[in-house]
Amino acid sequence: MDMSTKQKITIIGTGYVGLVSAAVFADWGHDVMCLDINHEKIEKIKNGIMPIYEEGLDELVKKVYSNGSFKPTTNYEEAISHGNIIFICVGTPSNQSGAADLKYVFSAAESIARLMKENEYKIIVTKSTVPVGTNQRVEDKIKEVIAGRKVIFDVVSNPEFLREGTSIYDANHPDRVVLGSKSSTALNVMSSVYEHLNCPIVKTDLASAELIKYAANSFLATKIAFINEISQICERTKANVQYVAEGMGLDNRIGPKFLNAGIGYGGSCFPKDVEALYRTSNENMYDFRLLRGVMDANARQKYHFIEKITNKFGENLSGLTIGVLGAAFKNGTDDVRKSPAIEVIRVLKGLGAKLKLFDPAALENARRELGQDYLEFCTNSEDVFYNADAVVILTEWKEFTLFDYSKLKDKMSRQVIFDGRNLLKIEDMSKLGIEYYSIGR
Ligand code: UDX
Ligand code: UDX
Repeated sequence: MDMSTKQKITIIGTGYVGLVSAAVFADWGHDVMCLDINHEKIEKIKNGIMPIYEEGLDELVKKVYSNGSFKPTTNYEEAISHGNIIFICVGTPSNQSGAADLKYVFSAAESIARLMKENEYKIIVTKSTVPVGTNQRVEDKIKEVIAGRKVIFDVVSNPEFLREGTSIYDANHPDRVVLGSKSSTALNVMSSVYEHLNCPIVKTDLASAELIKYAANSFLATKIAFINEISQICERTKANVQYVAEGMGLDNRIGPKFLNAGIGYGGSCFPKDVEALYRTSNENMYDFRLLRGVMDANARQKYHFIEKITNKFGENLSGLTIGVLGAAFKNGTDDVRKSPAIEVIRVLKGLGAKLKLFDPAALENARRELGQDYLEFCTNSEDVFYNADAVVILTEWKEFTLFDYSKLKDKMSRQVIFDGRNLLKIEDMSKLGIEYYSIGR
């Protein structure tokens, strides 16, 4: 990149979004400092141990840490004085009522405001997904804390669209960059951070930028919920949802992506963002009924899948051993937040089944989430098949398609597979004499 646009950047929060952004910005040649209030996390990062699993992240962090462009710290004063652009990347979990909990965002804004010096221009950027109006509140909060000191700053909304599992690639190849601000100076400086990327930069106002993120995620969630509903019609009409999705997706206006039927969407974003947009609409006296339908369909989809199991074995699963493949909310990640796989596991356990679980990356997080004695955690995928009355596939890991089912089926007490992600081929299963159930086909 053109080094004249090299920026001094500070990142607050080294979660999925913050750590990946920090490493990628440093790799682009910017001078990056990243702060986390969690000392243990920062120590780990310094020692090359990543607090999250993300393909390629450890190599990238090692590279930028050793060339000096990536500096981890827990010292807020040092961090705020470093960056002329300060990104807020702290978590925005849902609180008990389902609204985004913004206490970390405001506490970061407050710390920034307290430590900004007079006559130094700073741009405060929110990358975390925050409800419409939050950036304005961040600006108000900062003004309140600086209380008349001559601090010059602008606020920018720069929502993040990266997907877990492919986040480094996504950060380097975004479809677009969205920037919202009242200040054209801030928008121009921010554009320079991304200018070498070959993609459109949408410059807009704060509220529109904030809403773009919610609208995009809710639209994608709707697409998944739609194909899941279609899968129900397929099952009732003997159509095959994969053929239907293929035929639909070839229409340019629809596109082939996010049309995989399964056990519903999960993760730290879609469930939370759809709910938050629904809430925003209610708060603004509008009933966004379509979103209510999306949330209902997504919740139902897991139960349609569980019904296939209880239709086969009855409502009482005690005495049955069920092998489980997958705990992560999707492939390529160790994240189990709002994972539909974890929900299905809980229901099967509740119905009395004895469960054995394998996941290539999320076993530790599943153990933390479910508890050590909740089920048997298998570090070897084969163990899941031993003496199993059935095996269920809950996460779309590619490697589950590479298993030698002709050997594994002999380890099972009964040859039954429930595939919640349509990973396996119906013909292969029938050739092997495996009783096979999948979604919408
Ligand atoms: C992000 C975004 O924040 C969220 O809005 C989006 O919808 C999903 O991705 P994520 O990066 O996954 O969240 O958050 P998390 O992994 O929880 O990391 C947040 C980090 O911020 C943690 O390491 C936490 O210790 C740190 N933090 C939190 C601070 O440094 N300061 C605080 O005040 C609070
Ligand atoms: C999402 C958005 O894609 C990303 O732009 C945003 O920044 C954060 O939220 P992420 O949550 O990492 O990313 O995962 P994504 O790949 O979108 O998958 C979300 C969920 O939908 C997963 O549970 C996945 O299994 C499910 N899914 C996805 C389907 O069930 N079918 C599909 O066709 C695609």
